Amino acid sequence: MKNIVLIGFMGTGKTTVGRLLAARLRRPFIDIDKKIETIAGLSVAQIFEMQGETFFRQQESSVITQVSRYTNTIISTGGGVVLSPDNLNKLRKNGILIALKASAQVILERTSRRANRPLLNCENPYKQIVTLLQEREQLYDTADFKVDTNALTPQEVTDEIIILLRQGGYLLGRS
Ligand code: S3P
Repeated sequence: MKNIVLIGFMGTGKTTVGRLLAARLRRPFIDIDKKIETIAGLSVAQIFEMQGETFFRQQESSVITQVSRYTNTIISTGGGVVLSPDNLNKLRKNGILIALKASAQVILERTSRRANRPLLNCENPYKQIVTLLQEREQLYDTADFKVDTNALTPQEVTDEIIILLRQGGYLLGRS
């Protein structure tokens, strides 16, 4: 069975929904950022601060190379994985890509609850979100399925994904 890979901007709920989905489908769960942090022994924010974004992106690609060989796994990615076509190709080969979407305003509300995103640690995070969304939107839109999370709880997003997967013939039996 293929992996189920959640992509999307920061604050769209990839990690929370990934965990819920894994529990519902009784499959293993992997969060790419968490794996990078475990390997480095540092938080994502510390890696950005001490070693820079380029180094972080190299670590991210190396973890994706590893994880994209898995099967049957729910994978949550960081919002920037789509910037590398190679990352996307590898994830797509063995996985069904699901993009979680949200508006800039909703993303701002959700991400301002925690100060753990180095790219949004700037004077005008809303402007930064709009700029990055413009750069990345069409890359997220290459996913097999898209879910608008603006008005949904993580549980409802999970339900929606299960419906889409079932309609697409990717899930057999009850879950
Ligand atoms: C990033 C998103 C973050 C993390 C890093 C860079 C991005 O992950 O990988 O701060 O470039 O959008 P989340 O999307 O889980 O916040």
